Amino acid sequence: MEHDNGSGIQEELDRILLEEIGRTSSPQLIEHALRPHNVGALEDPDGEATVSGLCEDTVRIQLRLEGSKVSEIAFMTNGCAATVACASMATELAKGKTIQEALRIDGHKIREALGGLPREHTHCADLAANTLRQALLDALEKKRDPWKKLYRSKGRI
Ligand code: FES
Repeated sequence: MEHDNGSGIQEELDRILLEEIGRTSSPQLIEHALRPHNVGALEDPDGEATVSGLCEDTVRIQLRLEGSKVSEIAFMTNGCAATVACASMATELAKGKTIQEALRIDGHKIREALGGLPREHTHCADLAANTLRQALLDALEKKRDPWKKLYRSKGRI
C-alpha cells in the first residue's frame, strides 16, 4: 500500500492556488499565496480586527505593540488565494512600523508590493488594508483607554 507523505497533497493545493490567482502572476504574489507570512493568532493582542468584504470573505488581523511600533502581527482568513497573499503582504509591510506609518498602508501599496493583482482580485488588497487599519485603530483606542483591552478580552463586546 502506498503512503502519501503529504507532498502530493501540498502539490495539489499549490496547483489549486495557482489556478486561482493565475499562473502568470508576479513571483511575489505566488510566493505570498503559497507560503504566506505571519499566519496564526496572537494571545491577548494590543489591537485586532475582523473584517468581511462584499464577497463575504473575512480577514482577521491581530497585532502587538512595543512602544508605538508594531512588534508582532498575525492574520487568518477564509478568503481566496489573493486574499491570503494580500493579508500576508499587509502584515509584512506593517511589521516594525509605527502606528502612524502603518496607517498609510492602503490597498494600492499592497498591490504594488505584490507586483500587481489580477483585476478580479483588486478588492482583496482593499480588504486586507481595511482590516489592518481597523486593527491599528483598535490598538490606538486601547492605548488611549487601557481599560478597554481588559474589558474586550472578556468577550463582552
Ligand atoms: Fe473576496 Fe478575495 S475574492 S477577498
